[in-house]
Amino acid sequence: MELKELNKTGVKIPAIGIGTWGIGGYLTPDYSKDEEAVKALKKGIELGMYLIDTAEMYGRGHSEEIVGEAIKYFPREKVFIVTKVLPENLRYNDLINSFQKSLRRLNTDYIDLYLIHAPNPNIPLKETMSAMEKLVEEGILKFIGVSNFNIFQIEEAKKYLRRTDIVVNQVEYSLVDRRIERDLLPYCLKNNITVMAYCPLARGILPKNELLKQIGIKYGKTAAQVALNWLIQKENVVAIPKALNTEHLKENAQATGWRLTEEDLQLINKHFK
Ligand SMILES: NC(=O)c1ccc[n+]([C@@H]2O[C@H](COP(=O)([O-])OP(=O)(O)OC[C@H]3O[C@@H](n4cnc5c(N)ncnc54)[C@H](OP(=O)(O)O)[C@@H]3O)[C@@H](O)[C@H]2O)c1
Repeated sequence: MELKELNKTGVKIPAIGIGTWGIGGYLTPDYSKDEEAVKALKKGIELGMYLIDTAEMYGRGHSEEIVGEAIKYFPREKVFIVTKVLPENLRYNDLINSFQKSLRRLNTDYIDLYLIHAPNPNIPLKETMSAMEKLVEEGILKFIGVSNFNIFQIEEAKKYLRRTDIVVNQVEYSLVDRRIERDLLPYCLKNNITVMAYCPLARGILPKNELLKQIGIKYGKTAAQVALNWLIQKENVVAIPKALNTEHLKENAQATGWRLTEEDLQLINKHFK
């Protein structure tokens, strides 16, 4: 598995991780596939995708519980856990409270990266960032990040951090959604912010794409692997495809360690404007 430096922190994370939206439920908890889900996450970690993305929102916390079950089998420092606080919990005490609950569900004593799931214009960012920084000072949070933030929102958040910085912005990015390329992606590169691409397979659409299938043939790769490789060839981008299926997990792990040729990159870029 290819590793990428979480910009300027010295910490390396896998270029491909695992998303968990739908693992343990969507907007409500679903306990029916727990065993399969724990097995899948364990498998993914064994394959080197030890960057796991979850959120207090997913399955109303049950996704975090499943992640907590899966990481029990590994030394804690061998996994990199990302979770998120809901926009309605961005008041100082609410954020601390949410974080503590996530710690309990994840069955761990620290979280690697805590993200604001989405901005909330009704709660002052200053208050939120001060709670975030408190968690870092206490040593129970390693890194602070945001999700679905635009440049102005990131700039504002950065302003309120005294001893730490924003290391990640998690945003939608794939061959079918390239909106961030205009401003946000270059801004993040310049400011040492890793872009964590969500929905990197366009929720399962890209693995069915004919052009990507054809291009993959000469590398012995699938359309999904081509779509993921296209993302991670960019310097500050990592991807977090969700996969429950073991074959999908194996495929995704092998989307790194090779490169598309310049010619194929151009062909792909032209096709997916
Ligand atoms: N911050 C945010 O606001 C936000 C928003 C959306 C998502 N996210 C995060 O990003 C993650 C990824 O996004 P997503 O789950 O919406 O979509 P996605 O990763 O683009 O697509 C997931 C779908 O692709 C399938 N798949 C995975 N690998 C495959 C492969 N190699 N070949 C064929 N199909 C494959 C999965 O099937 P199986 O499960 O059957 O393997 C699943 O149906 C989420 O799980 C979540 O952690 C964050």
